[in-house]
Amino acid sequence: MSEVVRVGMLGCGTVGAAVVRLLDEHRTEIELRTGVRVEVVRVAVRDPARDRGVALPAAAFTDDPGEVASDPNVDIVCELIGGTEPALSSLLSAIDHGKPVVTANKELLATRGRELFEAADANGLDVGFEAAVAGGIPLIRPLKHSLAGERIRRLMGIVNGTTNYVLTRMTDDAMSFEDALAEAKRLGFAEADPTADVAAHDAAAKCAILASIAFNSRVTAGDVYREGITAVTRQDIEFARRLGYVVKLLAVAELEGESVAARVHPAMIPAAHPLAAVRGSFNAVFVEGERVGELMFYGRGAGADPTATSVVGDLLGAARHLLHGGRAVGCTCRLTRGISPIEDMESEYYVLLQVEDRPGVLGEIAAVFGREGVSIRHVWQEGLGADAQLVFITHRAREGALRAAVEQLRGLAAVEAVESVLRVEGEE
Ligand code: NDP
Ligand code: HSE
Repeated sequence: MSEVVRVGMLGCGTVGAAVVRLLDEHRTEIELRTGVRVEVVRVAVRDPARDRGVALPAAAFTDDPGEVASDPNVDIVCELIGGTEPALSSLLSAIDHGKPVVTANKELLATRGRELFEAADANGLDVGFEAAVAGGIPLIRPLKHSLAGERIRRLMGIVNGTTNYVLTRMTDDAMSFEDALAEAKRLGFAEADPTADVAAHDAAAKCAILASIAFNSRVTAGDVYREGITAVTRQDIEFARRLGYVVKLLAVAELEGESVAARVHPAMIPAAHPLAAVRGSFNAVFVEGERVGELMFYGRGAGADPTATSVVGDLLGAARHLLHGGRAVGCTCRLTRGISPIEDMESEYYVLLQVEDRPGVLGEIAAVFGREGVSIRHVWQEGLGADAQLVFITHRAREGALRAAVEQLRGLAAVEAVESVLRVEGEE
């Protein structure tokens, strides 16, 4: 005989509705495996009258998240609204009413996570957030459980499905940025405001969450250096292809001494690199540990159904703890590490310049790079006369030095425009 656990949902949009459907359609397997029957009893949405294609009575719906959070008939609260408010106050209210919570809200976790985790720890309650990073990929649990005894040195990956979808369509199908983004929105990958995806706020939040777990120190979204994909042009993608690279939005978090360096930005990676094969809405994260070496987590990083599987896994974990005792791992940010400035990071760089086509120009430019200690690995010229472009790939250099060089290049009469600067990552 299964025991019943009652869930209150906050939000029933792309992910929320998929969670309700999954719990309904996989009811038998869930009961067989866990001995728990999960029933969704209350749902808060903006518009309770709208049909969401879920098998729930109209009376279950309300437009007041606070009502669901404090409802004595709700055992677990599942937040799938997104954004800071009313998500945070509803989750805090649920915890205050003794209910464990599950959320997919990376924005909230990476900005106000401390408040949420402190409240949950003070009350001995679970906060499940597997779905907040990399959608359907089990990543938070392996980091917190399986790798609890490991020293993690570095994480690098693709953690935003929308931008990976857009870059893939621009690369493989020569689709425009706007058309590819519209398609990603239609497929349910994008945030309510897709600026969060294309400007890399979403990836920065996920990078902060991963870094916080990996390095035991609270890293917030504001600590992560961030560049989105809006400046990546079809020309960059084409040059990348000709050079044997692909352009990806990367998230990188690593220890530099005792400090954390965390960044998200577009980068060229070799076409043979495993991350180059991560296409569409798929995500992949490499984790480098001292003893375990390199691990790769790969799967669908966005979309209703994959994300719903992570949410349901957390709901079942919380349900088991409610019924049988025990608790998920709480906050592990027990250290206070500094954050390394972006100027101290090192990378190779691709620099594309629009230049005057006359003798001596290459020498002037090379002198600027040389003065700043940036060594050039490849250079070649595209076009002639008024259309001349110079493409440089540097050796590994400090970001601060590269920036100083680019600033000086902008001041050279021979340089008409610095058209692009992209980092080149993943070379042996
Ligand atoms: P949607 O915009 O599709 O759904 C949001 C839901 O919240 C809607 O049901 C909406 O109601 C409801 N809502 C919004 N504001 C309020 C409010 N003030 N009071 C009550 N209800 C409200 O978002 P998603 O399902 O895509 O995303 C939900 C969360 O999951 C976000 O945190 C997102 O970052 C995260 N996530 C999303 C993934 C994806 O692939 N989409 C993947 C991983 C995580 P109504 O329907 O009436 O408008
Ligand atoms: N908008 C997010 C993405 C959803 O595209 O990755 C998954 O977190």
